[in-house]
Amino acid sequence: MTIETMGSEALERIAAAGDAAALESLRVEFLGKQGSVSALLKTLGKMTPEKRQAEGPKIHALRESVQNALAERKAALDAAALEAQLASETLDLTLPAPETPQGSVHPVSQVMDELAEIFADMGFAVATGPEIEDDWHNFTALNMPESHPARAMHDTFYLPDEAPESGRMVLRTHTSPVQVRSMKAQGAPIRIIAPGRVYRSDSDATHTPMFHQVEGLVIDKGIHLGHLKWTLETFLKAFFEREDIVLRLRPSYFPFTEPSVEVDVGFAIEDGPDGKGRRVLGGSGDEPGHGWMELLGSGMVNRRVIEMSGLDPDECQGFAFGVGVDRLAMLKYGMDDLRAFFDGDVRWLKHYGFSAFDQPTLSAGVGARA
Ligand code: DAH
Repeated sequence: MTIETMGSEALERIAAAGDAAALESLRVEFLGKQGSVSALLKTLGKMTPEKRQAEGPKIHALRESVQNALAERKAALDAAALEAQLASETLDLTLPAPETPQGSVHPVSQVMDELAEIFADMGFAVATGPEIEDDWHNFTALNMPESHPARAMHDTFYLPDEAPESGRMVLRTHTSPVQVRSMKAQGAPIRIIAPGRVYRSDSDATHTPMFHQVEGLVIDKGIHLGHLKWTLETFLKAFFEREDIVLRLRPSYFPFTEPSVEVDVGFAIEDGPDGKGRRVLGGSGDEPGHGWMELLGSGMVNRRVIEMSGLDPDECQGFAFGVGVDRLAMLKYGMDDLRAFFDGDVRWLKHYGFSAFDQPTLSAGVGARA
């Protein structure tokens, strides 16, 4: 066989190779150690110089054209394989979503959304503040100077570094510093709620080192305790979705309010599904078989706090309140162990979580369940 016919036959077969494996066996057949082209190359050594001069270029050209043909065919096969893969992997975006959506909205997020919805209807905006707070905002500006006994009740987490003017940094022990930040930033009038994480070094079935509070603050001219009571009543009726919520305001003490009131809510004992009595909110706690449950702290903002926040306490007054968001969630949705809130157990989340499509709205019911 002449070199020319060998070459044209090789190129024909390479062009006809159907897949990568067929192509590889052709490569071995022509260019492998025992390959036919390799064998031709080996004959060069034994040729006379004249013959080698005549034959050498033809043999080298043969090898080169076989190599090029192999590479070309390989590229064509690879491209075809990729085309086929892409064609088989198309994703039909018009298909409906899977029937069982994964994931759920945590009850704490749900309750915060409910609070924002309820208070937005009363003209309150949502404010936030830093979780790493300075000593001044967390304590001093709230009328708890250094050595104030109330500081000891907060089981504070202190950070090692110290800010030059505002003292040690802490993980905020309550959302109340957002009162100070809001007054400083926007002046009067103010109507805000400030939900968020707070931290205290405490842990048992009803206490976790991180938990959630929502702060409320109203600052304006002529604000009095009646406004506070109406606001809390309206909020709690909307939140618990019942009209028979009854509140009892009890004199109390907080450094940042004067006067301070603790707010109790009336409950009745009803038989639960397990036969045990359970507390159901609603009705006056004074009736037989009823009781009062402590729910939140509040009061008229202490004039020293208004002053330290840069406003004139003779010009504007206000009320404030603070309540545990986790506690509100437990009361409304019936969980009894706070620690489970933060375990991330998917079974718990599946049971107590909410659908992301179930946005709380006043018209559809703030607590609508999926
Ligand atoms: N900051 C208080 C706490 O964490 C709760 C509180 C009580 C907030 C009375 C208030 C208030 O705004 O007026 O225990």
